[in-house]
Order: sequence, then structure tokens, then C-alpha cells
Amino acid sequence: MCGIVGYIGRRAAAPIIIKGLEKLEYRGYDSFGVATLGRGIEIFKHQGRIAKNAHSAVRLNGTIGIGHTRWATHGVPNNANAHPHTDCKNRIAIVHNGIIENYAKLKRELSARGHRFLSETDTEVVAHLIEEKYTGNLFSAVQETVPQLQGSFALLVISAEEQRIIAARNASPLVIGIGDREFFAASDMTPILEYTERAIFLEDGDIADLTCEAVEIFHGTKTVTRPVELIDWSVEDTKKGGFSHYMLKEIYEQPQAFYNSLRALDPETLPAIAAKPSSVTIVACGSSYHAGLIFKYLLEETCGIPARLEFASEFKYFPPPVSGLVICITQSGETADTLTALKQAKARNCPTLAITNVLGSSISRVADATIFMRAGPEISVAATKSFIAQLAVSMQIINIFAGEHDTKMLLHAHRAIEEILLKDLSDAVSVCKKAQSIFYVGRGPFYPVCLEGALKMKEISYIHAEGYAAGELKHGPFALLSKDTPVIAICMPDSTYEVMISNIKEIKARSAPVIALGMEGDSDLADVADIFITLPDTHRFVQILTSLVVLQLLAYHTAVVLDRDVDKPRNLAKSVTVE
Ligand code: G6P
Repeated sequence: MCGIVGYIGRRAAAPIIIKGLEKLEYRGYDSFGVATLGRGIEIFKHQGRIAKNAHSAVRLNGTIGIGHTRWATHGVPNNANAHPHTDCKNRIAIVHNGIIENYAKLKRELSARGHRFLSETDTEVVAHLIEEKYTGNLFSAVQETVPQLQGSFALLVISAEEQRIIAARNASPLVIGIGDREFFAASDMTPILEYTERAIFLEDGDIADLTCEAVEIFHGTKTVTRPVELIDWSVEDTKKGGFSHYMLKEIYEQPQAFYNSLRALDPETLPAIAAKPSSVTIVACGSSYHAGLIFKYLLEETCGIPARLEFASEFKYFPPPVSGLVICITQSGETADTLTALKQAKARNCPTLAITNVLGSSISRVADATIFMRAGPEISVAATKSFIAQLAVSMQIINIFAGEHDTKMLLHAHRAIEEILLKDLSDAVSVCKKAQSIFYVGRGPFYPVCLEGALKMKEISYIHAEGYAAGELKHGPFALLSKDTPVIAICMPDSTYEVMISNIKEIKARSAPVIALGMEGDSDLADVADIFITLPDTHRFVQILTSLVVLQLLAYHTAVVLDRDVDKPRNLAKSVTVE
């Protein structure tokens, strides 16, 4: 959702905050703003991207400041709704990630007491509530305000009269970076990595008082100590490193991300809770849901363990009958729907396991056990290397359940992925870039690969794309097939091979061009397809990975040819912390 950054120390705050916000733009990017303690509170905020308008913001004075990059929820993206928001007297400035659910009532009450509002946001009420309580002690004013707020929030607050930042967290991520007589606060570690690897993850209900000299954390009225964690992500991981887009860089990092994530879990480190479950319920959203569907297919096919998959957003309102292990898959560890589903599963006494990429994330704090993937930071909004890392962990779990401790085949998978990175997909891109609509078809675990391939295509190229289980295309979508509607078909040498070939012929009979993905040397498939993209002859699990990478690259190159904003597609955000 939104991203927030704060800095307190001896350096100029604004450039550090702007640089940090650029790292967090994946969380939202319709507007941004910075407030510093210079000559009073100085504010610059603007609709649009940071890079275009940063020059005005970096001129703000002061060594203490807060900043925000927005993904609009309450009020359209414009300068007035951009954060920071202030109180009536411009003495207090705040930035906020989350949603204040009772803001309407609070706003009515504050208006009746004479407060003037300049934005349509939920956030602005918090500045005015703090104003009412402020008598020269910002920490106390925030502490008294927080109990009035319902919803989720990570807040950073400054006052014109004090050299401090107050940070408060409830159900939205907030991490404090510990430097040498300087401190950072941010929605995640990426803006902080450049300055320090030492961090404290605040807990729900914590309020931190940051001065140049120290950080003091309170939970309610009590001082608490939170562990200082060492973060092993490298700052280089957060840079483009010569690639034209983060997405391409992250696609190229997949062989390593897969290898590292595989090694994140050996049989000895599988949490006890996950040992030999009689049944599994997987809960996830978006791309993670597609990874979950691959997990489900392979778990049932390889281990005979019954698995069901649920959209986290449905799980809450239509609770299915679950009793066995509940696994939440989430790259960010912050998705609101997945977090809610996890809490519900716990409330129903189900053992819970999280698979996530982010140390200290909210979901990892709630689950009974967590497996951290080792994909490294992913900046592009479209998930790629985090997806392949989810598959690495899933496949490793399946190996362990199946008693198959020889993971050599998977340890060599990165070589097959490397081979795919060299593929020339220009013929397929020329067909896709002209399409209004593209269908993706496959069977078994290749069906979710199609769902993910279609999602990548639609989110970054804006071409309508749908993934279908191949047998379903004839039940409706056939009405849409024409010479202008390409169909991408994954056809592997398994029990579905013959029927897939028949499906492709049926599609061809309706004039749709077919781009087929199949094994090298498959001359029958080559004959029936218009464009044939070959995959190396490997283990079934590895075929899933290689076909997926082809579809990621196809979406990427199509989006580039169409001149799309690949890393920041319109209307999206990487981490969705609202329901
Ligand atoms: C957003 C992102 C997707 C992601 C989904 C679930 O919609 O744009 O890429 O798959 O959230 O996120 P999670 O962090 O739970 O995997």
C-alpha cells in the first residue's frame, strides 16, 4: 500500500527521505510528500512520480523529517490528499500507512469542535486529534490519540517544537533502522539498507520515541525492549544493476533465488508443526495463490496428501471446514486478507505455517511457524523471483513429505532456468503485442502456470489475458477465438499430452494462432503450433519452472514493446494491506 520513511540524525533529512521513498514506490506511487523540521515544519507534496518532482522536495531544510508515497484509498490522487497532513496550526505533521476505519465519525466530531480539513483522507483526522492533546509533549499526545483509532496504521509524527519523531504501529509494518547517532523508520528495510543492517521490527501496539541519541519503545505505558535484528539483504539487491527494469533484473535473479530458497529448507529445518499433515489448506492472494495451486497439484500428485486452496479474501467471509495444517503463502507477509485468514485459522485451533520472503513481517509474527524464502528484496510490482522462491520452498516441502531427500534434481534446476533466460521470444512477442485478448491453456500444474502467465501479461502490458484449464476453453471462451486472439498452450509429455494436442487442433480450427511451449525435439507439437518455444528435457517440477519463466519473459518483452511502465503498472501496488 503506501510507504513511509523517517530520518533523524545529523545529515540533511530530505534527500535521505526522497531516496528512501523511491525504494518504496512499489508500495504505491500516485503521489508523494515530505515534511522536515527546518524553519518550522516545511512541506512539499505532489501528485505523480517522485523522480519528476524530487528536486523541489530535496531543498527542504532540516535533519529530521518524514515522507510518504501513496496508493490512494480515501480521496483521489492529488496534491491535497498527498501526505504529510498537518493540524490546523501547522505545528504537527504526520504520514500514515493503513486505514483509519472510524475516521468519518472522528472527522464529524473534530469539525464540530472547529477543526478545518484540507483533504478527503482518513489520515488527516489523526493530525487533528494529536493537536487537541498536544501540550508540548508529542509522545504523550500520540500515546493518548492511538486508543481512539480503529483500523490499521503505521504512523510517523513530528512537531515543530520538538527534535524527535514518534512512530506508532498497529497492523501495518514499521521497522526502525539503527545507525550511529541517527535513526531511520520505514515500511520495510529497503530504504534503510544503505545506511545500516541493524533493525528493530515494531510490534502491534508499540509506540517508539526517536531522538538523535536513542530509540525508546513503549507498549501501552510500559517501556519494552525489542530485539535488534541483523538484515542480510544487500543494498545492491535494491538497485537496477544495469538492467533497464527491476522486473528484468529480478527475472534474471531467479536461478539464484530458486537455489537459495531451496537451501532455506532442509529436512531438519522443516518446522515440527508441518511434519506429515493428514490434510493441508493453502491460503493466499494474487500470484501467491497461483503458487499455492501448483503446490496443491504437486502435493496431491506426489504425496497423496489432500489439499484445498482458498482465496484469503473469501476465507474470512465464507469459512470452509478446515482442521489440518493451514499454510499461508505471501511474498510480502503483509497482505491484509491473508493476515485475517491466518488469524481466523488460528482462532479455529488449526496449526499454521507461513511461507514468506520478509523477515519480521506481520504474518510471520502471527503464524505458529514460518519458512523464510531467500529471494532477496523484490522491487518490481509484478512478482517474479518471489514466485519462483515460493515454488522452491513448496517443492522442497513436497520432497520432504514424500521422503525424497535427494534434491539434486532441484539443485540443478537453476541451470535449466538460466538456459531459458537466453531464449529469443521475438516471434511470440510480435503476435502478442497486436492482440486485444490472449488465452493461456494448460493442464494439471501447468494450468496455474497459465494463470500466472496471463496475470503477468495483463498487469504489465494491459492486454486482456486469461488462463484456462485446457479442457475448459471449449465451454465458452471458444466464442472469442479468432485469428486475432492468440492462444498460448503448454503441452508437456505427460498423461495429458494427446488430449492437449487435440485441444490445440480444435483451437487452430477456429483460426486462433497457437504459441506452444513443449519439450525440445517434439516434432508433432512443432507441426501443429504456429510458434513453438522449446523447453529443455527435465524433471516435471523443473518443466513447471522453465515454462513459467518463458511466460514471464513474454509478458515483459511485450510490455516493453508497448512502452508500458513495467515496474509500476497503473493502479497496482505490490503489497496490499487493505481488505
Ligand atoms: C498484490 C501484488 C501481487 C501479489 C499479491 C499478494 O496484488 O501486486 O504481486 O501476488 O498482492 O501478495 P503477497 O505479498 O501476499 O504474496
